[in-house]
Amino acid sequence: MSGAVPSGFLALPSVDADLAREVQDSLDQVEKVLREAVAASDPILTDAAGHLVSAGGKRFRATLVLLASYFGDPAAPDLVRAAAVVELTHVATLYHDDVMDEAELRRGEPSANQIWGNTVAILAGDYVFARASEMLADLGTEAVRMQARTFGRLVQGQILETSGPREGTDPLTHYTNVIADKTASLIAASAEFGATFGKAEPETIETITRACDALGMAFQLSDDILDVSSDTAESGKVPGTDLREGVLTLPMFYALRSTDPADERLRGLLGRPLDDDETAEALRLLRAHPAMEQARASMRGWADRARTELASLPVGRARTAFEALCDYVVERTG
Ligand code: IPE
Ligand code: IPE
Ligand code: MG
Ligand code: MG
Repeated sequence: MSGAVPSGFLALPSVDADLAREVQDSLDQVEKVLREAVAASDPILTDAAGHLVSAGGKRFRATLVLLASYFGDPAAPDLVRAAAVVELTHVATLYHDDVMDEAELRRGEPSANQIWGNTVAILAGDYVFARASEMLADLGTEAVRMQARTFGRLVQGQILETSGPREGTDPLTHYTNVIADKTASLIAASAEFGATFGKAEPETIETITRACDALGMAFQLSDDILDVSSDTAESGKVPGTDLREGVLTLPMFYALRSTDPADERLRGLLGRPLDDDETAEALRLLRAHPAMEQARASMRGWADRARTELASLPVGRARTAFEALCDYVVERTG
């Protein structure tokens, strides 16, 4: 048995203790692979590309890969590498996302764009993605295809978010499509990778992928809620980044639906770029608005969909861990 001490989600009492130790042990190996992967010959590139890996993060997607392998054989080869590939893909998107969102903080550290400027931040993201692709090549053409499709969806989600809904498209439907593409796709692909490399039954692979697609929707809804409700100490990010950038998220859609004259000021602050004072005002108004609870209810609805999918999987410690993950996603504070 390994000496790894589970942390974060894996430390929850509902997660089987042996499974948690084994997954933590594999995550420690993933950590080494991640750090090796982002090393470069150029010192600026090494600093910039290593910045977000060193800054930490929950390693949520890597954990999903490893957990999903427990529906098959968790000792199968290539799982650590597959987990590192999805985590690097995620990290690459964070570099680019922070440029797009003009974010100042990420993982409790100044963002790469804040430290080195947009050009270096974009290139650092490209470099991390290149290193992920190189590692992926050793996992076979099907894995390359899966990752390429997922990355395409991530880009599509970010573009859709930037361009906004087309004439005649319901804005809420548009938002749902955005979060499915930009976030749920990689979270579903993480589970698919883990179950596939763990050689689970085809039907099990499909089910856990669908479950994690729904879980990924809940995950992004929780991120959008936390952008309003959390503080930097918990999230490692600057609250109100979506409000400042004029990015509409679910709590804002609910607030926009209100016909209460008392909400007029808040409605006028949503969906357009805001300065510091306006951002602070919008945050204060939205935090106190019932729209927050409506958005939480919607998030719980997606977690319930994930649970419904999980219910058809074989009973056992893998399924129990994913059920605990559904609770974790709706309750997380960072
Ligand atoms: C942030 O993801 C970006 C989203 C898709 C919501 P995480 O919340 O998993 O960020 P880290 O990896 O823990 O920093
Ligand atoms: C992140 O979306 C999606 C991707 C990184 C592809 P957000 O912009 O909502 O995530 P945070 O809040 O900055 O982490
Ligand atoms: Mg962002
Ligand atoms: Mg963004």
